[in-house]
This record gives sequence, C-alpha cells and structure tokens, in this order.
Amino acid sequence: MDKDFLQQLAQQLRKPDGDMGKKVGENMNASNALMNTFTLNELKAQSNDCILEIGMGNGFFIKDIVANDHSITYYGCDYSELMINEATTLNQSYIETGQVKFFLASANQLPFLAHSIDKVFTINTIYFWSNPSVELTEIHRVLKPGGQFFLTVRSKSTMENIPVTQFGFKIYDQALLKDLLQTTGFMVKQVVEKEEPDMEFSGNTIKVSTWIFCAEAI
Ligand SMILES: C[S@@+](CC[C@H](N)C(=O)[O-])C[C@H]1O[C@@H](n2cnc3c(N)ncnc32)[C@H](O)[C@@H]1O
Repeated sequence: MDKDFLQQLAQQLRKPDGDMGKKVGENMNASNALMNTFTLNELKAQSNDCILEIGMGNGFFIKDIVANDHSITYYGCDYSELMINEATTLNQSYIETGQVKFFLASANQLPFLAHSIDKVFTINTIYFWSNPSVELTEIHRVLKPGGQFFLTVRSKSTMENIPVTQFGFKIYDQALLKDLLQTTGFMVKQVVEKEEPDMEFSGNTIKVSTWIFCAEAI
C-alpha cells in the first residue's frame, strides 16, 4: 500500500467522509466486530440503562444493545456527519420508537447534562484525541456517580504493527491509559485482554489483541 493511500485511510478512520468514508465505515463493521462483541459482553446492558457510545461509526452494532430490551436508551455521538447519516439510516426503526438518538458532537463537548448517563463506551477512538484528558473529563462529567465507562483499544503491539497508524494515531500502553483514567476521575476495575484472529495487512501477518478498560466514575 502506498503512502498516499495510507494517509487517506488514516484520515477516513479518524473522521469518515464522502464515498471512501462510507466504504471505510462498512469495512470497520467486519474488522472491528469482535471488539464490539467483547465490549458489549463487559458492558452488560440492563433494563432502563441509558447508554452513550462515542464514535459509533455507522452504528451497525446498535441493534445488539437495544433489540431485545425496549427499556434501554442508546445515544450515539460522532463528529462525522457522514457516520451520523449512515447510522440514522441503519437504525431508523429504533429512532422512530425513541429508543435510539444520534448527536453530531465531539467528545470534548458532549450535549448531555452532568450525571445523566449510566454507561459510556468508546471503541477505537482515543487514538485520535490530541489531549485525551479533555474528552475523558467530559465523559466523567456526563456519567452518573458510580457510572461505568468502557474504553476499548487495540493493544500497543497490534497498533505498532498496523502501517496506517504511523499517520497521526496516538498509541497507548496500558500504564498510560490507566494513568489517564485515574487522573480524570475514574477507578479502573479491570483490563480485559482478548486475542483475535491474525490480520493480513499488505502481505504481512499481524497478531491482533484488544484491551477493554472497565472503569467506574468516582
Ligand atoms: C476508527 S472509527 C471507529 C468506529 C467504531 N467505533 C469501530 O470501532 O468500528 C472512529 C470513529 O470515531 C469518530 N470519532 C473520532 N474521534 C471523535 C471525537 N473526538 N468525537 C466524536 N467522534 C469521534 C469518528 O468519526 C469515527 O466514526
């Protein structure tokens, strides 16, 4: 893969836009499916939960949260207009019943009242935040005291081996993420580590693993 393509792909992963953004959004549904499953397994949505996802992409997996329990409310925030439109199309029936709502918003300024959300999760987004303490403090603000936060990323070694990450991705080790969470008001309860099938990228085989940071707002 040439450098120009990798740069374009990096930009699309950061904030999908146009025809390529639509395609990238669809591809992420396949490449990140397990990360989503792992995260929802930890989140354990319960009746009457109000759940916020930041950076839901095209919202393909929202049905897995809301379909079986109509008392659950899901909010999705994304700063990509394209992803809001795609997610709206895919989840029209849940929007009509009022169970799902989307917000064109950035994680550094969430359109919610303080202490109004039970659970927040975000998958594959923190790599793009220049000063993640700002976004994490904002997430802490909207969570109820004792509310749960799930931060899901690919492991440091995985990220270091994916060529696209050299173009503007911030890569974290566990200690740095724990420290960031602790200094923004969270207690890290557990870091779940999951192995995934190897990934092929430009003819190279990459070992893939995912970390889910399970934290509580204190
Ligand atoms: C790499 S995609 C990940 C999509 C999905 N969570 C997944 O893992 O398949 C990153 C998504 O987060 C959104 N995003 C990144 N930073 C954001 C921010 N600061 N505020 C809101 N949305 C953000 C992007 O627009 C994009 O839809």
